[in-house]
Amino acid sequence: MKIIVYFTVACSLAFVDCLENGLARTPPMGWLSWERFRCNIDCVNDPDNCISENLYKAMADELVKGGYKDVGYEYVNIDDCWPLVNRDAKGFLVADPKRFPSGIKALADYVHSKGLKLGIYGDFGTKTCGGYPGSKFYMEQDANTFASWGIDSLKLDGCYSRIEDMPFGYPIMEFYLNQTGRPILYSCSWPAYTATPDYKAIANSCNIWRNYDDIQDSWDSVSGIVEFYGANKLNFSHIAGPGRFNDPDMLIIGNFGLSHNQQRYQMAMWAIMASPLYMSNDLRRMPEESKAILLNKNVIAINQDPLGVQGNRIIKQGDIEVWTRPLQGNSVGVLFSCIGGATTAQVKLALTNIGLTNPSGYNLTEVFEGRFVGIFKPNESLSISIDPYDVFLVKAAQL
Ligand SMILES: *[C@@H]1O[C@H](CO)[C@@H](O)[C@H](O)[C@H]1NC(C)=O
Ligand SMILES: *[C@@H]1O[C@H](CO)[C@@H](O)[C@H](O)[C@H]1NC(C)=O
Ligand SMILES: *[C@@H]1O[C@H](CO)[C@@H](O)[C@H](O)[C@H]1NC(C)=O
Ligand SMILES: *[C@@H]1O[C@H](CO)[C@@H](O)[C@H](O)[C@H]1NC(C)=O
Repeated sequence: MKIIVYFTVACSLAFVDCLENGLARTPPMGWLSWERFRCNIDCVNDPDNCISENLYKAMADELVKGGYKDVGYEYVNIDDCWPLVNRDAKGFLVADPKRFPSGIKALADYVHSKGLKLGIYGDFGTKTCGGYPGSKFYMEQDANTFASWGIDSLKLDGCYSRIEDMPFGYPIMEFYLNQTGRPILYSCSWPAYTATPDYKAIANSCNIWRNYDDIQDSWDSVSGIVEFYGANKLNFSHIAGPGRFNDPDMLIIGNFGLSHNQQRYQMAMWAIMASPLYMSNDLRRMPEESKAILLNKNVIAINQDPLGVQGNRIIKQGDIEVWTRPLQGNSVGVLFSCIGGATTAQVKLALTNIGLTNPSGYNLTEVFEGRFVGIFKPNESLSISIDPYDVFLVKAAQL
């Protein structure tokens, strides 16, 4: 009942458009611990890889040293398993003092001193997915705690909760975050737990939101997520825009499960889908090829296009898919992919077939290498070859 009372306070004040925190005007970029480091709390036997202040400090250092910060990666995001399993006597969340001996505030200061931002993780229910304290009944207190620590982003998961509480509960947390006066990017897991999410309501409370299952370090996982986005059965793609983005989950580039082509595929797809670019990898030991993909400025520019429009799949024929994303200046990002097979696929189609109908034509540039492809009228055909699991990503600039 307590929550329902808060609801009337929260959203009657600003029901028209609850979220105006100025954040995520383009998809946020950074690093997030979950996929790579999970809930490893064994700092005795695995001090370099356990969830601890040292891990996040190391990643902040690497974001700067490795050139990631220079191309836009900005958030260092703590995920599950950072606190003690019990709140203190006054109900406050406490970072595990063995693993975070300096405390979260000091970690935030460190991350800020590098010109970066610190994100943290909580849960809408009674417990986090890993069994740590959830924010149910503590939303205001937790929002204030996070703000007092200098937190810049909150991912609010949905384990151990009542799904029917989410439509009013997630906006309540947004209300309390707003009340702190500190701009805190709000990442909601709400739709991922809901069969028929009200995406309009979600976009009015959340900056980004997870729609689908957690990503795993495998091609099956990446391709499953992309299929969910391509099918767009719940009609969520058009909801994206500046300040509000669908989140297909972390980039796993630089880990173990994807081939080189599949890593290019994930980067290109996340660019076309206007997805948050949160890497979950070990920045201390990155294969050079993976690093080059993550640092590719041309692909990042597509992802960060200021219009913030999410791309859609417009053709799916066997293993071949074509996706398009409107970009500023009447340009269009076009992604051709081949998501299977054993031999190089040949694709030939007229620009009109992919919705490029401007009579004066288009100047096509391959995005990864910035290579000029040609000038095409809409009725002219484009012929390309795509290797299995690779992509051909082009920017079509209207002439
Ligand atoms: C709180 O919400 C108001 C109204 O939407 C907005 O103007 C303000 O910038 C928000 N403040 C923060 C810190 O998010
Ligand atoms: C999806 O949303 C758009 C924009 O609100 C609307 O025009 C369209 O009819 C919706 N499609 C379906 C299948 O609900
Ligand atoms: C077409 O794009 C290339 C870059 O790929 C650029 O160098 C060239 O000037 C452009 N041509 C026209 C006519 O816009
Ligand atoms: C394409 O359209 C132009 C006029 O825009 C026309 O001159 C040309 O013949 C057409 N080419 C083909 C292959 O149909």
